[in-house]
Amino acid sequence: MHLLLTEPGDESLLTDELKRMFVGAETEIVAPGLLRTAVTLQASAPPVLAFARQTLPDAHAVSAASIREWGERLFEVTSRLPEGQPWRLHLAPHYGGEGAGENRMRFIHEAFRELLRKKRRYLLRAWEESEVPFRESTSLVQLLLTAPDAGFLSVSIAPHPWQLRHCVWPFPKGELPVASDKSAPSRAFAKLLEAEQRLGLRIAADETCVDLGACPGSWTYVAVNRGARVIAVDRSSLREDLMANPLVSFQQGDAFKFVPEAPVDWLLCDVIAAPERSIGLVLDWVQERRCRRFIVTIKFKGQADYAKLEPLKHTLPPLCKEFFLTRLCANKNEACVMGTLLDSPSPRLT
Ligand SMILES: C[S@@+](CC[C@H](N)C(=O)[O-])C[C@H]1O[C@@H](n2cnc3c(N)ncnc32)[C@H](O)[C@@H]1O
Repeated sequence: MHLLLTEPGDESLLTDELKRMFVGAETEIVAPGLLRTAVTLQASAPPVLAFARQTLPDAHAVSAASIREWGERLFEVTSRLPEGQPWRLHLAPHYGGEGAGENRMRFIHEAFRELLRKKRRYLLRAWEESEVPFRESTSLVQLLLTAPDAGFLSVSIAPHPWQLRHCVWPFPKGELPVASDKSAPSRAFAKLLEAEQRLGLRIAADETCVDLGACPGSWTYVAVNRGARVIAVDRSSLREDLMANPLVSFQQGDAFKFVPEAPVDWLLCDVIAAPERSIGLVLDWVQERRCRRFIVTIKFKGQADYAKLEPLKHTLPPLCKEFFLTRLCANKNEACVMGTLLDSPSPRLT
């Protein structure tokens, strides 16, 4: 049995997505935003689930009456972790309102750490308190409390977390805080930061970017602040300081008609358009190898048909070294597709 977390209210979207992927998949809502399913998560054909914020593979129900007992539950299951290999722990509450259970988690964390310090020091040394993407050697223990004395435990032994990285995220509950920066032209900048973190890569100095649908310029702002050069395409101009920035080349026009003269390091695209148009755009850019990496938002309106995302799941993975399709915490009304192309040359714009 696996547990899947989604944004509360999106349970039916995740169920529909599972049913498209696994014919006849049965799901049961255990708590708001928490689904139980018995589908087979095959490492050889890892599922891409845009609406699964996090997955707890092979989870089982557990209960404990005290902090000390919770520490012991964790201690028991960590005996299964391979010696000398990195592992991580995600401890998270899933009950009450904002902040509920956080203190309890801290105390459980301390109680468990103390047990390891006394009885299993080798595990303490291999414990990675990090949120960077999983390596093939990383194992993951997840404890999700649905009440102070009950919850679910999942132990995923390497290379499973890495193999299932399209639906098992290196962040507890798959959540990332929404960044804020008052100097950015708009809040859209938080989407790019989150997408980079999920991809495990950042736009770097001297890289080249094409930013489609760039106005008012938050994504361009992030890229130029890192020292990258940006061709920004929009029908409207960017904020004045960005228009004057020597690293920015603004091209007024239709994002869907823009083709770079040479491949670029990054395609960034946040155009407001029908989902099929943005999906067609990212497929063209990747199939024609116009970029090495891409972060593209797919926007939906009203009664959205999320089945439109399915072609991305089939077409892009064979062309990509890394590929993610997800709903960002920074924006709930769109999906974000990001990735790195396979065996790409190291292109530079002339
Ligand atoms: C959500 S905003 C982009 C925000 C931007 N990423 C930022 O960080 O500031 C979407 C933009 O897409 C632009 N847009 C929509 N259709 C377009 C098209 N066909 N060609 C160029 N720009 C387009 C709009 O003008 C708008 O500025």
